[in-house]
Amino acid sequence: MTIWFGGDYNPEQWAETVWQEDVVLMQQAGVTMVTVGVFSWSWLEPQEGTFTFEWLDRVLDTLHAAGIRVDLATATASPPPWLSHRYPDSLPVTETGVRLQRGARQAYCPSSPDYRRLAARLAGEIARRYADHPALELWHINNEYGCHVSRCYCETSAAAFRRWLTNKYGTVENLNRAWGTAFWSQRYGSIDEVTVPSAAPAFRNPTQLLDFDRFSSDEILGIFREEAAAVRAASPSVPITTNFMGLFKPLDYWAWAAELDVISDDCYPDPVDPDSPYLAAMTRDLMRSLADGKPWLLMEQSAGAVNWRPSNAAKPEGMMRAWSYQAIARGADGILYFQWRQSERGAERFHSAMLPHTGTDSVSWKAVCQLGGELREIGDALDAPTHGSVGIMLDWDSWWSIEQTGLPSTIDYMEGVRAWYRTLYDAGVAIDFVNPRSDLGRYSAIVVPTLFVATSDALAALSAYAEAGGRLLVGYQSGITDEEGRLTPGGYLGSLAETLGVRIDEFFPLPVPGSVPADSVRLRANDLGVRDAVGIVWSERLVITSADVVARFASGPLEGEAAITRRSAGAGQAWYAATLPDPWLRSRLVAQLLAGTGVLEDAVAVPGVEVTRRGRHRFVINQTASAVSVPIAGQTLSVEPYGVRILEGDTVWRD
Ligand code: GLA
Repeated sequence: MTIWFGGDYNPEQWAETVWQEDVVLMQQAGVTMVTVGVFSWSWLEPQEGTFTFEWLDRVLDTLHAAGIRVDLATATASPPPWLSHRYPDSLPVTETGVRLQRGARQAYCPSSPDYRRLAARLAGEIARRYADHPALELWHINNEYGCHVSRCYCETSAAAFRRWLTNKYGTVENLNRAWGTAFWSQRYGSIDEVTVPSAAPAFRNPTQLLDFDRFSSDEILGIFREEAAAVRAASPSVPITTNFMGLFKPLDYWAWAAELDVISDDCYPDPVDPDSPYLAAMTRDLMRSLADGKPWLLMEQSAGAVNWRPSNAAKPEGMMRAWSYQAIARGADGILYFQWRQSERGAERFHSAMLPHTGTDSVSWKAVCQLGGELREIGDALDAPTHGSVGIMLDWDSWWSIEQTGLPSTIDYMEGVRAWYRTLYDAGVAIDFVNPRSDLGRYSAIVVPTLFVATSDALAALSAYAEAGGRLLVGYQSGITDEEGRLTPGGYLGSLAETLGVRIDEFFPLPVPGSVPADSVRLRANDLGVRDAVGIVWSERLVITSADVVARFASGPLEGEAAITRRSAGAGQAWYAATLPDPWLRSRLVAQLLAGTGVLEDAVAVPGVEVTRRGRHRFVINQTASAVSVPIAGQTLSVEPYGVRILEGDTVWRD
């Protein structure tokens, strides 16, 4: 199995004499694949319909002669100035009606017929020209879809939204019912009267907002489909990818993943954020989950600093290597960077690269070369990744909906997801992300931090999972609305209430952080030996129908009432958490949830250290700047700061 190594290569920024030096240095660094052409549109089609591929021919031939494979982009990520000059309506419009201009990148409306026609044509031209090029390994459609413009509020988008609604609802009566337009005199006489949810005087219709989020994700997926179809027509046997951006709210990656041959991700954790290791681990686990347990590619990371934070920290020695191995341990079969050679000009001239502006006599170049050499050596020996043992539910409808306004509280959807992930990560558990349609049965436990929007099928699937012997933990604000945004018929939690053995009587959301009075509530879990814990974000009055109380609120208006419950459901267990417990209590709960499943017996939990299994190998990665000792496989392994040791079975295989 090859572990690809390389990065974005933008030769149009350099004289051809530099290209020769590039390939020599690429070979020196162990580069096996580069992504070419991501931002080349104005160089490949300098005027509408005039194509100038000769320079790209020479680039690909040069790479091929050096034995370097190519991930070839369709070059559509940044439309050339002539496009919006000629078709000004192709420029996107913001929620407040500002039309964004050219001069940066991604300046296009996702619904623009001119952009889409010209993008698909260019993709087809490139695919036909290079389908049989011997350097071609992979197709790279567009780039980071939606990263700058994921929602457009122009007239063209409004017309596309109406077509999407007509397709979904058929008639205006159906739309009126689904959107609840009896409220605030919003009843439409015809779908022609509907527009996009631009800035408005008061709370906008929640179902209109949700449908607009769904539409926008679908609409951008539509551009991907058109480009992919043009590429596949000319090059049916070469796989296709487009690079994701981790936990990216605007696009429902579950829907997208199904249409990619290879999942790939761009990930730029902040070197000075102590949470970066677990946050990066989350995105790696998400990518493996989107790939349904198969390998994926780290399409972009940085060799050192980025240039888009207020202050851009460099990576201490060893960190880049440790983070690269983290991706491999969690299923990546490629480590690539933005970008190969640091730009001298342009908006990203201060972004690090594999080959820095300071040249080859630099610490970061040496680190890149060292990693390239190591990956070439270990690649063939690695097994394919596998599924995790615990699933965390991630649902874009819920993410979009719970962050609207006019709700019981202001909730950051990812706060709960991150919290439960962190607890499982700290316990050394192998984690997948799942959605309500996933095969839940393969997991020892399922954690649902918040499933605000839940179909009756989703609620039934969770109940069935627990009844069949699974360990289910459900968090607050789950089963609150159906897919139309209507409050769940029959009461919050719907059919899941019976499985959980609780009913929700009334919400008591906690004040948002920093508020007076306190933004937390005290908790007591006597049976777990926890007398003084706290909960944040949420509390609510539960009516216990058939559950055991695991923790109670110990302050505030609900003092003495149930906060966390557990019910034996069929062969399994169904837990409910009416608050977000602090890390200590969460770790106790996870230990209980997983007791008897065998999951924790296989896990190594040492603070700051990740032990991740990939087939026969276990990667022991020290994510800290201090040396650590790790008890594993009957021995104590010392691991240097940011060090990586790989075990095969019980013996150290690589350092
Ligand atoms: C993204 C883009 C790249 C580059 C990097 C900089 O990942 O895809 O083109 O802009 O960010 O970090």
